[in-house]
Amino acid sequence: MSKTYYIETFGCQMNEYDSEKICGLLNTEGYVEISQRDQADLIIFNTCLIRENAENKLYGKLGEVKKVKRLNPNTIIAVCGCIPQNQEIREKILTKYPFIDLVFGTNTYDQLPELLYDITQSQKKIIAIEENSDDLIEAIPKVRKFHHKGFVNIMYGCNNFCAYCVVPYTRGRERSRNRQDIIDEVTELANSGYKEITLLGQNVNSYGNDLQGSYFFPDLLRELNEISGLERIRYMTSHPKDVNDDFIAAIKDCNKVCNHIHLPVQSGSSKVLKEMNRKYTKEDYLAFVEKAKREIPNLSFSTDFIVGFPGETEEDFEETLALVRQVRFDAAFTFIYSVRPGTSAGKREDQIPDTIKHERFDRLLKTLYPIFESNNKACIGHDYTVLVDDVSKNKPDYLTGRTECHRLVHFKGDASLIGQVVKVHITKARTWYMEGNLI
Ligand code: SAH
Ligand code: SF4
Ligand code: F3S
Repeated sequence: MSKTYYIETFGCQMNEYDSEKICGLLNTEGYVEISQRDQADLIIFNTCLIRENAENKLYGKLGEVKKVKRLNPNTIIAVCGCIPQNQEIREKILTKYPFIDLVFGTNTYDQLPELLYDITQSQKKIIAIEENSDDLIEAIPKVRKFHHKGFVNIMYGCNNFCAYCVVPYTRGRERSRNRQDIIDEVTELANSGYKEITLLGQNVNSYGNDLQGSYFFPDLLRELNEISGLERIRYMTSHPKDVNDDFIAAIKDCNKVCNHIHLPVQSGSSKVLKEMNRKYTKEDYLAFVEKAKREIPNLSFSTDFIVGFPGETEEDFEETLALVRQVRFDAAFTFIYSVRPGTSAGKREDQIPDTIKHERFDRLLKTLYPIFESNNKACIGHDYTVLVDDVSKNKPDYLTGRTECHRLVHFKGDASLIGQVVKVHITKARTWYMEGNLI
């Protein structure tokens, strides 16, 4: 009988994609994925360390599976991803949850088949972590979640050391993938019917900086745009310090590159941005947005904010609100600053009290939401091409998809349209989505 596994993924697209590769490796080994966690022979948690609540999610899950392990001691419990990359936390969880059998990291998941073999042979706990790797993990089979859109890594790691962030410690330094490997992966996806790809990297706009050559992110966009069959090219994440005129020109010239940029600003105060080590000012950010909007028709912008970074004053926060009103973002991820192990901001004495952080967070949402709604309302009466993703969770006879500019659209339609590009006439708009009719 086949062995079964259950995997749960926390964190960003990078982790989602690593999980698709972990599933690919396990399937090649004859394992079968199941959705009933407590019945699986192997339970994997692919973890995230970005904020305290991401970390706490793992502890909750480990508390739950303790019983599973007691009832069935042969179940293998594995923890992988970003959390075990931190030595202190890794040691803490191994002490607190001694029933964990296997720990592997962001640079070692490709060894999973051997690690599982070793566990069954030795019956011992195995820890496989490489702190910082120069290797690129290539040619891993993947179990892709969707058959019409997929992720493609273009680079790994991050060199930026933003003062609040653990990613440079969990993912190591920037390593760009070889251009031909990326082109081949995208071509293969397009040939098997994929319509949309999302190029992944912590900082896609620095693609190529570590390679010996003069081939950079805009060049990659232009080359991928030529791949036939493909309809949409997305990418994330762009760092405001690395965006430039070549990038704007590539989006403008390439019909498949979507008219949406996710450009995390974090704060509207140049003083806070300097302390965050973001390497751009509020003025730089605004100048880019203005120029890009002028050059690229119907361009939409989404962003990330951190509220309550150490030392953030009321005036600094007001500048964030002013920037929101000026840019009029189409969507945003909003985060309350969370102290992270090993980061420079975590050591600062001038942490902002929780009550102030929450109060500012609420004010940020109150400023953002009416803008999202009004931007969506401006789409009423217009027609958009929508890539159909799935059946709507709440209304079974409805479908959901995204416009090119990444707005979420719900409309009535048959499930056979999943994976197709359709036209929708927008009739209604809310803060987070729009509704319309198929035309
Ligand atoms: N590489 C991307 C995203 C990294 S993590 C980038 O540079 O934009 C995604 C988001 O999590 C960040 O943009 C930031 O807004 C948020 N984040 C990271 N560390 C955080 C922390 N310690 N507390 C709160 N939010 C954080
Ligand atoms: Fe973290 Fe900054 Fe790197 Fe993004 S650019 S992953 S926020 S250190
Ligand atoms: Fe989390 Fe690691 Fe991504 S810390 S946000 S899963 S890179």
